[in-house]
Amino acid sequence: MGNIKTHKVGIIMNGVTGRMGSNQHLMRSIVEIIRQGGVKVSPDEVIMPDPILVGSLSDPYNPANLERLSKLSGIEKYSTDVEGVLANPDFPVYFDSQSTTRRFEWVSKAIAANKHVYCEKPSALTTEEAYKLYVLAQKAGVKHGIVQDKLWLPGILKLKMLIDTGFFGRILSVRGEFGYWVFEGNNVQSQRPSWNYRKEDGGGIIIDMFPHWSYLLENLFGKVKAVCCHGATHIKKRWDENGNLYECTADDAAYATFELDEEIIAHFNCSWATRVKRDDLLTIQVDGTKGSAVAGLRNCFIQSSAATPRPVWNPDVESPIDYSDEWTLVPDHQEYDNAFKLQWEMFLRYIVKDLPFRWNLLEGAKGVQLAEKGYESWEKRSCVDIPELKSIPQDDSEH
Ligand SMILES: NC(=O)c1ccc[n+]([C@@H]2O[C@H](COP(=O)([O-])OP(=O)(O)OC[C@H]3O[C@@H](n4cnc5c(N)ncnc54)[C@H](O)[C@@H]3O)[C@@H](O)[C@H]2O)c1
Repeated sequence: MGNIKTHKVGIIMNGVTGRMGSNQHLMRSIVEIIRQGGVKVSPDEVIMPDPILVGSLSDPYNPANLERLSKLSGIEKYSTDVEGVLANPDFPVYFDSQSTTRRFEWVSKAIAANKHVYCEKPSALTTEEAYKLYVLAQKAGVKHGIVQDKLWLPGILKLKMLIDTGFFGRILSVRGEFGYWVFEGNNVQSQRPSWNYRKEDGGGIIIDMFPHWSYLLENLFGKVKAVCCHGATHIKKRWDENGNLYECTADDAAYATFELDEEIIAHFNCSWATRVKRDDLLTIQVDGTKGSAVAGLRNCFIQSSAATPRPVWNPDVESPIDYSDEWTLVPDHQEYDNAFKLQWEMFLRYIVKDLPFRWNLLEGAKGVQLAEKGYESWEKRSCVDIPELKSIPQDDSEH
């Protein structure tokens, strides 16, 4: 056996003490990649992440939790001096999963420090800032990416396979049901951080979920041309992490219709104040002339036109058809790895080997734009067109 060449990639992980940062990005992605021996790029080459866990002292929660995470993960390097680490050339990549209000400032700083950047969605709170991050990164000639994890969920990969094989015929409509009951936090502890329910802290289901619908719709079905959205704050008061009662200032539900290319209509209901009687927390039904499918996070059911029952409306008798019985489960054609980890591996291949990676800050800005237009539509009580965000060339003179 020949020698294995290892490409070490220093990664600054900011916001790693948070829910997404610790669970999805650190423990289930970076630590797993290290444990599996890196990302193999050829028979004798691997990419090995070399992370440093960081968190500013402006969140008093950070120091003790960085130490705890370091022990838990086995990642020895950690620091509360984020600016200092940004100046260190041993770490060419900056990752950000801080709460959204902090993203623009810190991703901008990382680009100014000439780092390649990868970040959670939404990439900013306004389209102007999100697009600016894209422009800054392109002009600095750094590589950039945005988390679009749902694209690699098993259920979505199965849906994509059905589309690619022509299963649906002409696609007519897409119906998404997203949501579950998020406890108010008094009797049962809330499952989500309280900032999500305060607009002033970057909360709101529209800014949280529309970036996901943006890339899912565009990657699977076509460009989103217009949105018609009605939001709501159904639950007015909740209890925070310290048991204090607070006013909910952000939307916790949205009922939105999207107009896509090719006359496809997509409608998504999103709510943190609903109870689940469907197969999963997110289900997406696609209806086409030749068949339909319902995808959840992992599974996907199909019904072809030839297997479609012929219901007749008659509420006077019990239905002779068991509708849920008439669907076939799409088999697992492969092993499915964690979606966040798969995207991290692709991002690392892009950094080291320059392999294509199209989930960049322009795509991130499109997600923020869809949310912003959703809010505008709700406010105006009318449908709103989505203007195109232009791509610009990358300046690679410095690299
Ligand atoms: N891809 C997805 O499916 C998905 C799911 C949930 C959340 N997110 C996104 O991930 C990001 C983080 O969400 P989360 O649920 O992990 O939030 P969280 O509240 O659990 O974590 C927030 C992180 O930001 C840091 N932070 C917050 N305020 C700070 C301050 N003043 N000073 C220094 N550090 C500060 C915290 O220390 C923590 O590390 C958000 O932008 C959210 O939209 C993405």
